[in-house]
Amino acid sequence: MSTVFVVGYTGATGKAVVNKLFHEESFKRIVLIGRRKVTLTIGDDPRFEQKEVDFDKLDDFKDVFRGCDTGFCCLGTTRSVAGKEGFIRVDRDYVVNCARIAKETGCRHFQVVSSTGTNKNSCLLYPKTKGEMEERITDMGFQRLTIYRPGFLLTDREETRIGEKLVMCCMFPVFKLCPTAGSVHVDLVAQAMINNAKRPFKPEGTSIIPNALIHEWAHS
Ligand SMILES: NC(=O)c1ccc[n+]([C@@H]2O[C@H](COP(=O)([O-])OP(=O)(O)OC[C@H]3O[C@@H](n4cnc5c(N)ncnc54)[C@H](OP(=O)(O)O)[C@@H]3O)[C@@H](O)[C@H]2O)c1
Repeated sequence: MSTVFVVGYTGATGKAVVNKLFHEESFKRIVLIGRRKVTLTIGDDPRFEQKEVDFDKLDDFKDVFRGCDTGFCCLGTTRSVAGKEGFIRVDRDYVVNCARIAKETGCRHFQVVSSTGTNKNSCLLYPKTKGEMEERITDMGFQRLTIYRPGFLLTDREETRIGEKLVMCCMFPVFKLCPTAGSVHVDLVAQAMINNAKRPFKPEGTSIIPNALIHEWAHS
């Protein structure tokens, strides 16, 4: 029976994590951390607490993280929504700050959704930002750190993302023929994270989970 937090719980992957945690009895308290509160589709469950924070002043909200032994981080934005600086701020700095504060307040196992193709030395914004985020969190020395590197995330989004629609159109036959190669449904990412969190705790250091292994873990 552990206490966990979910950051980015209003997004596609985060919502899937929340919906799956609702059906799990091994988590006694689930702290949902975001920039706004929402109406949860799971209805009222006293185990879930929503906490609104200012990610630019996250040190003022340390108490929100306190007592959580495992963290699920599904935070992220896009360059088209936030611009270049905004993307770096959210996908690298906010994620790194969440990890740092989680560690300071007792988190033993941090799980973060990154991406296929991360590379801190890349000249491209997306892989470089994700690569820098991964490196900074790895350097924190968590007892257990799990970095998920999904391919294209399959989900039904309320908002329209032109880039994602284009990828979907071009890559649909590949995703259909080789489901574990380049894509994964957010429900499977969430299930893999939860299955991993339920394993008995061992200080294993950092594990990097590529797309195909996310599929495997989701069914394990
Ligand atoms: N899309 C893909 O195909 C793909 C592939 C590989 C990896 N990924 C990565 O996987 C992760 C999860 O993706 P997703 O599609 O589930 O994400 P998403 O649906 O876009 O949700 C992102 C979450 O981050 C929060 N967020 C965004 N901007 C914020 C800001 N300025 N301040 C505070 N919170 C903010 C959102 O909160 P609000 O609801 O308040 O906006 C939401 O909870 C991301 O890191 C993404 O880069 C995505």
